[in-house]
Amino acid sequence: MSSDDGQDVPATRESPIRPRAFSGIQPTGTVHLGNYLGALRNWVDLQDTTDGVYCVVDLHALSVPREPGEVRQATIEAVKDLLAIGIDPDRSILFVQSHVREHTELTWHMQCVAAFGELRRMTQFKDKSESNDFVSAGLFTYPTLQAADILLYDTDIVPVGDDQRQHVEFTRDLAIRFNNRYGDVLVVPEHRIPEAGARVMDLQNPGGKMSKSADSPQGTVLLTDSEADITRKFKRAVTDNDAEVRFDPERKPGVSNLLTILAVATDGDPVQLASGYSQYGPLKADATQAILELLRPIQKRRAELDDPEVVQLLARGADKARAVAVPVMDRVRAAVNLL
Ligand code: AMP
Ligand code: TRP
Repeated sequence: MSSDDGQDVPATRESPIRPRAFSGIQPTGTVHLGNYLGALRNWVDLQDTTDGVYCVVDLHALSVPREPGEVRQATIEAVKDLLAIGIDPDRSILFVQSHVREHTELTWHMQCVAAFGELRRMTQFKDKSESNDFVSAGLFTYPTLQAADILLYDTDIVPVGDDQRQHVEFTRDLAIRFNNRYGDVLVVPEHRIPEAGARVMDLQNPGGKMSKSADSPQGTVLLTDSEADITRKFKRAVTDNDAEVRFDPERKPGVSNLLTILAVATDGDPVQLASGYSQYGPLKADATQAILELLRPIQKRRAELDDPEVVQLLARGADKARAVAVPVMDRVRAAVNLL
């Protein structure tokens, strides 16, 4: 079967009209430019050609210690971010992971087909376990919950940033292994990683990716940052001292990151854009302007949302998510065939 954009779609799902896209984001602070350029803008665009299922993964956020209630408000904030960037709850399913219990049930089955050695090799686990004092078993099995998220919705496409490539490939391996053991039960998904913007780097430390937990808040542009903050962060972005504007992520990570950000925000090409600049100042100024223009309407929409409205909308989202997830979980239970 072929979808609107000409992609091949597996036929395991009963008469799929459009491919299904699924993705998730952790509710751990405001969304940043890396999230938006690497993943979230694709979620928005895919709404035209796929059935989107978008999830705020609150259970994943518990894999590192959290205060009671901390994740609750952060979940509302994350949903506001998603609504503000253009996730349309009438066209897509927008919901919270813990509202659909089947995620945790399917996780157990995923854990029982996952190998200890595979989980130990996950780079995100290695990175996070090195930087945390307390390493929970949940942090270790995190990718099996992510696999359950994806497989519970007969997902065809998983739009994510580059750092999630390994987790989606692992999900494919688990689905194939499960199917080999129990029959043709799970749809094997594919990742969708953008060519540009899949790895936005920290403005202060362009050797590392932009992230919410970065040591340098000055290197991370939040979707909710003020114009003054955004301008200052770009102005102080680390470049290098050879004063040549060239797209070369290996040797010139800071400058290349600015070119990538400008390119993605303006639908341009970083190599071509580079030839239009002979100094860093104008490049930083143009990147700032492009991001301010991109974020202005998003911030305006975000300010108009209130908490009770979001909570109500999430209840509807959970109902719609369950309508997809429950039959898939039934299929899994039947295949495993316990008493
Ligand atoms: P997280 O905030 O870790 O839940 O990530 C949500 C989505 O944003 C995932 O698809 C990530 O791959 C993506 N993402 C996170 N950080 C970056 C980054 N610095 N550049 C590009 N994509 C990113
Ligand atoms: N692990 C992802 C991240 O840190 C979030 C996530 C959880 C996810 N479940 C998912 C992404 C399912 C895609 C599909 O960004």
